[in-house]
Amino acid sequence: MNCSTLRFVRHAGMRHGCWAKPTITPAGQLSRQAIGATYSSLSRESMDGKSVIVTGSSRGIGKAIALRLAADGYNVCVNDLSHNQAGCDEVVKEIRNMGKKACTAIADVTKREEVKDMIQTSVRELGPLKTMIANAGIVQVAQLLEMSDEDFRRMFDINVLGVHICLAEAAKQLIKQGDCRPDRPGKLLAATSIVGFKAFPMLPHYSASKWAVRGLMEAYAMDLAKHHITVNAYAPGIVGTNMWDVISDGVHGPMGLERDKVTGAFAHNMTALDRVSVPEDVAKLVSFLASSDSDFVTGQTQLVDGGIVFT
Ligand SMILES: NC(=O)c1ccc[n+]([C@@H]2O[C@H](COP(=O)([O-])OP(=O)(O)OC[C@H]3O[C@@H](n4cnc5c(N)ncnc54)[C@H](O)[C@@H]3O)[C@@H](O)[C@H]2O)c1
Repeated sequence: MNCSTLRFVRHAGMRHGCWAKPTITPAGQLSRQAIGATYSSLSRESMDGKSVIVTGSSRGIGKAIALRLAADGYNVCVNDLSHNQAGCDEVVKEIRNMGKKACTAIADVTKREEVKDMIQTSVRELGPLKTMIANAGIVQVAQLLEMSDEDFRRMFDINVLGVHICLAEAAKQLIKQGDCRPDRPGKLLAATSIVGFKAFPMLPHYSASKWAVRGLMEAYAMDLAKHHITVNAYAPGIVGTNMWDVISDGVHGPMGLERDKVTGAFAHNMTALDRVSVPEDVAKLVSFLASSDSDFVTGQTQLVDGGIVFT
């Protein structure tokens, strides 16, 4: 094994094909008492004055996350595409009425320069960044054997490259700020889905993109731990948003269902708790993942689906 391979496997924690003892970090050298004193508090740290960017938050799940994180104390940068500027501004208004700072930053998450500008707008308006939620995404119903290469590329551009750009640029900002600590990590989150565990055949490239997000997030979690940044993903199930309107449009004909009955039928057939999810169900999980309560959680995909996929 040459030197650079050795460095790589050591960094990844794997040696000779089995998981090795991880590199000892400064925190790992602390005594049990010192670790207890630093990490044993059972109270949730206030997020007051910390700032978060939520992409795709003019509506749907992103909007619910933005409002919930503002209720948790965060100042929030609301992002979406330019045609959803009015929706962004409405969310900003609601957050300001809650007594928190908020701003709109229009950016297409697939464009690196726009994402950099979004982060700079957030830092200028709201102060140092603490958390990035890469929530923006698209869906498309398609037949595997008929789908165009263009459709496939667009899906991966937004759902995977867009997540990568947001996580990478946010990580650079957090590292530059230099304020992440083992007991106060920076936080990066990404949206995946139940179809990142078990694909829907009618959503082939969407399912593949959400599997990719899980893999990307795990690599980020391993790479950024040394900078005291945690990285996790949330995986919703069947949430009643515009996204399921798009799915209903595409599947109601082939399934022989009335369009308005599709979401309910899927939820009834698949969900142990037997209801369609609301965006706030997801926002509550994201609230945990964006809080100090999850400081020792990294590299995880957390499902919030009412009992569709069991892990
Ligand atoms: N609705 C569900 O059932 C469900 C289930 C699992 C996962 N998800 C995921 O949750 C996230 C939010 O979904 P939603 O249901 O709120 O969908 P939604 O369509 O209501 O909202 C998605 C938002 O992302 C924005 N967006 C799309 N492309 C963008 C880009 N290039 N740059 C910036 N913004 C962009 C859209 O304009 C929209 O406002 C998505 O990643 C989605 O894949 C949703």
